[in-house]
Amino acid sequence: MASRGGFTNRIGFIAAAAGSAVGLGNIWRFPYEAGENGGAAFLIIYLICMVLIGFPIMVGEIAIGRATKLNAYGAYSKLGGKWWALIGIWGILSAVMFLSVYNVIAGWAFAYFIQFVNGSLMKVTDFGSHFGTQISDVTDLFFYSLGFMVITGIIVARGIKKGIESAAKILMPSLFVLLIGLILYSFTLENAMDGVRYYLIPDFSAITFKTVYSALGQAFFSLSLGMAALVTYGSYISKRENIISAAGLVVGTDTMVAFLAGLLIFPLVFSQGVSPTQGPGLVFVVLPGIFTSMGSVTGTLVGGAFFLLLCFAALTSTISLLEIPVTFLVDEKGYSRKKIVIAFSVIVFLIGIPSMLSQGAVDGLTNFLYYEGQSKAVLDFIFDVFSDTGLPLGGFLMSVFIATKWKLHNFNEELAIGNPGYLGSMLNKFLNFSISFFAPLFLGIMFITTVLDKFFGIQLF
Ligand code: PHE
Repeated sequence: MASRGGFTNRIGFIAAAAGSAVGLGNIWRFPYEAGENGGAAFLIIYLICMVLIGFPIMVGEIAIGRATKLNAYGAYSKLGGKWWALIGIWGILSAVMFLSVYNVIAGWAFAYFIQFVNGSLMKVTDFGSHFGTQISDVTDLFFYSLGFMVITGIIVARGIKKGIESAAKILMPSLFVLLIGLILYSFTLENAMDGVRYYLIPDFSAITFKTVYSALGQAFFSLSLGMAALVTYGSYISKRENIISAAGLVVGTDTMVAFLAGLLIFPLVFSQGVSPTQGPGLVFVVLPGIFTSMGSVTGTLVGGAFFLLLCFAALTSTISLLEIPVTFLVDEKGYSRKKIVIAFSVIVFLIGIPSMLSQGAVDGLTNFLYYEGQSKAVLDFIFDVFSDTGLPLGGFLMSVFIATKWKLHNFNEELAIGNPGYLGSMLNKFLNFSISFFAPLFLGIMFITTVLDKFFGIQLF
């Protein structure tokens, strides 16, 4: 299958996979999850979830992809037959649905970036109501989400090496530069250290069972797990590379960026004396207010840089999401990559329209379903199904697949490639223990409790 292409080397893969992992999850979601769940206490539990479950699942996904050199569906079908291939189908379906919503939120970030650059946000005084107006403004949303989808599509159409890898190699370092620059600036603000203290001194009394599963859910979202994104990227790595060290670097980079995003956002929030427990509006409501209060030049620069950072982070993730269905059809049907990219970009964009209209524009979509004691918009519903519930399900099924069908010895052999001394090592034992016992146990419990809690109002813990 020479025509499939692939990453140039380890660095290419790591840049792309870290790009997939680093996204809205790190900069938009992680700080508000940490803010709502006890700051550093959440961070500690999050790190434990990353190491004990996130890392092994990531290694598992990459190994399945690399062992078969096939797309999500093809990989499971080759190793497990047609029933197990349903895991791959679920991954592809989730990727399409998840991307349709993710792209809408990326569109908000894009809109804020442009509006900081052209100065229009500097005139806003009430960001709460501005955000409400912005996310229900159909013309604007249409334009920005479409723009984001088109940029994603152009990069994916150029292929793994020339498109995805090259883009990640530019976007990821730029993201780091922006992030570090912004952190240094935020440290100079008044009361910045109160924010750092809130973030880094753990409040263990805030920990409940819910903290644990919020942290595990966040780890899955942030590492791009449970959706076969890494099966897909893994299928493009060469047989010479060491999967475990590559996965370790991806997990490390992702954790580092989430940690740094907190180090940026809490000082900003405390410098203005606002509460860190603002939920999803933290980045779109609280921060712009802070940026504009810095005066027009500084505000434009800092605000523009922040939303550019958010766009870069989101873009490397939308690219990886679009690649999942694209690789599937390139492998299975042999259609031209460009045509598939165009078709899927259109499909994903169309599927995203109800979510786009569910933020106040159309009432029936805004108050779409009632559960968890509140009415939920289409956008929330899709995230609840395909992210909060679907990702742990995907991780659970994958680990059960490795342990019972593909078998640990095959998994271990794949990991031993390029990794002398791996077989029989402590790491080998740990990964086998996690994949065959710990991860499926926790993910299974998490899946069931989330379904019962979210959709049936039954709380087991
Ligand atoms: N990891 C991405 C983020 O943190 C989201 C994502 C999930 C991307 C699953 C691909 C697959 O924003």
